[in-house]
Amino acid sequence: MALVPESVAKLVKAGATVAVETDAGLAAGFTNAQYETAGATIAADYAAAVAGAAVTCKVQPPTADETSALPEGSALISYWAPAGEADVLTALSARKVNVLGMERVPRITRAQSMDVLSSQATVSGYKAVLVGAAALPKMLPMLTTAAGTLAPAKVFVLGAGVAGLQAIATARRLGALVSGFDVRPAAQEQIQSLGAQVLKVELAASAEGAGGYAKQQTDEDAARTQAAITKHLEQMDLVITTAAIPGRRAPILIPEEALQGMKQGSVIVDLASETGGNCPLTKPGETTVAHGVTLIGPINLPSTAAFHASQMLSRNFLTFLQHITKDNALVLDANDEITGPMLVTYDGQAR
Ligand code: NAI
Repeated sequence: MALVPESVAKLVKAGATVAVETDAGLAAGFTNAQYETAGATIAADYAAAVAGAAVTCKVQPPTADETSALPEGSALISYWAPAGEADVLTALSARKVNVLGMERVPRITRAQSMDVLSSQATVSGYKAVLVGAAALPKMLPMLTTAAGTLAPAKVFVLGAGVAGLQAIATARRLGALVSGFDVRPAAQEQIQSLGAQVLKVELAASAEGAGGYAKQQTDEDAARTQAAITKHLEQMDLVITTAAIPGRRAPILIPEEALQGMKQGSVIVDLASETGGNCPLTKPGETTVAHGVTLIGPINLPSTAAFHASQMLSRNFLTFLQHITKDNALVLDANDEITGPMLVTYDGQAR
């Protein structure tokens, strides 16, 4: 849900009128009654909910039918798949609906509380460990029992951004022996601060680019990194990969040769599978086995923890709504540092 009852209550208190599509929150654990208590009215269906709205908040982009119900000149705040939905976008521009893509929140300190990619990556990182642990023929913690002592499972997290750090913390809580790797030096310190080991690779150049994102490595550094990762993988039970470079295919960190060296029964959860995969053999939305290794390519993990994912998402939407309203009126400033880059369509033009 783009807005949970707690956020609706804040909007209503500030003077807004909020309509919620009936049962829209049920699957995430939020009832119509809770929304009503928060001050919203429950609309019979989507069309009734958006009728007369100045702003529509929605997780997924609208379908063609949903587009035609949006009031002309209104604003739509949702996720916007970068390449897809071109027809819907054209239809929205024609209706002068101003579309704001929440995934486009600029990566600046002031906008951190609006950053949906970060908030949802927290859920993905946590869930990736649980999904991987469930597929592993081992338990994660060290156990000393009357039937003998069990060694802790070895978990390796590749890419220590928001999702990776949460995966490290989660695997540590479950008692695994955790190591991590990231090309950004700052991330390496964060891995250590969570009590995990850092896979050390001597690199010639820094891989930190503008805005704290990673940038492409040089060929020489990539080869050194790959050799170290391949060797480390031989010992691992569960591998969580989260490495991403914005706007590009995910870097390949586990090529087939590296996979061949891994232990029978080990598991890879590839959070980058939708953007090509950190292992080229993972398939988005599928679990497959190659060379004795289980490959899991989960899609939309945040929706599997919909209550908390919505709670965080809603905070992001609310903060952004507060940013674009003044005296309870919508003010969309295309030159604003935050709003500008988020406008996918503005005043009838696709941006
Ligand atoms: P992301 O999802 O774009 O990438 C995940 C991780 O993969 C990154 O840590 C990246 O360095 C790493 N990576 C890329 N190529 C790699 C390779 N070849 N090998 C190993 N690792 C590789 O990044 P995410 O999680 O969205 O954020 C990265 C950083 O930016 C974090 O430190 C986060 O705290 C910061 N950030 C700051 C924000 C703000 O100030 N508003 C908002 C969001 C994130």
